[in-house]
Amino acid sequence: MTPGRGTGHGKLLLCGEHAVVHGHPAIAVAVDRSTEVTLTPHAGTTTVTSNHTDHRVLDALLTVLPGEGFDVGVVTDLPVGRGMGSSAALAVALVRARAALDGDQPDADEVYARAMPIERAFHGNPSGVDVAVAASGGCLWFRKGDPPIREPLPPPAWSLVVLDTGTSGDTQELVAAVGARRPDIDPALARIGALVAQAREALADPVALGALLTENHALLREIGVSTPALDALVALALDAGAHGAKLAGAGGGGVVLAVVTDDEPVLAAARSAGVTAFRTRLWRGAA
Ligand code: MEV
Repeated sequence: MTPGRGTGHGKLLLCGEHAVVHGHPAIAVAVDRSTEVTLTPHAGTTTVTSNHTDHRVLDALLTVLPGEGFDVGVVTDLPVGRGMGSSAALAVALVRARAALDGDQPDADEVYARAMPIERAFHGNPSGVDVAVAASGGCLWFRKGDPPIREPLPPPAWSLVVLDTGTSGDTQELVAAVGARRPDIDPALARIGALVAQAREALADPVALGALLTENHALLREIGVSTPALDALVALALDAGAHGAKLAGAGGGGVVLAVVTDDEPVLAAARSAGVTAFRTRLWRGAA
């Protein structure tokens, strides 16, 4: 039998992380890094060969696969556990691989519905924004709900540079810690929500958008999810001429994104500081 293959893309949250878990909107972009899953039927226990380093991969796979009958191959070029949606990319890739094997062609809505239980095996109670953008591609306005609001936005013309702290935060723990600080931090969450609405209007203007994203970082620091290493990378990017910079994802480690029109000065500053950094392009989605 021909193996089933499926791909899921990573993401960056332009703005709105954490607040999105509590009902505010977020804007996410799919990136040109992805995870591919290959499912090969075989007799015996389901086995996994993976370069995805998260220890929850097998448990997550077994939420949709039987304990017997498959060889599963997972290959990713996403940094795992860094806020770039590696678990959502895996979930979407697995759903698509399974569908390919069954001769089924689910649309993005159906992929979202099937991938969410896998994402929950990683993160407990995710908002769904990572899975939504991994399934659709492009730039997405998202608001949690049943069903969630998912509106495609015009793809931005500026670039994003990603700077990696080299450490990981635990999304489930960070989301729980933020939840435990409510209602004290509700005003900060509401300010993030308002800022996301402003960012939507400023999407085509990297200077105005950048300022909003830097403000979003300050609010994420206020709710307790930034770290000195993330703050230092934001400062490094801004000093090197980025229009704006913020942590991206749950925080506690992971990556910073910087909005730039010329990526080289930020990449050069990162290189001389010994920081891993790379330019990221938008993945527009399947045609
Ligand atoms: C993780 O990429 C973003 C968070 O808002 C969690 C979620 O939305 O599920 C921190």
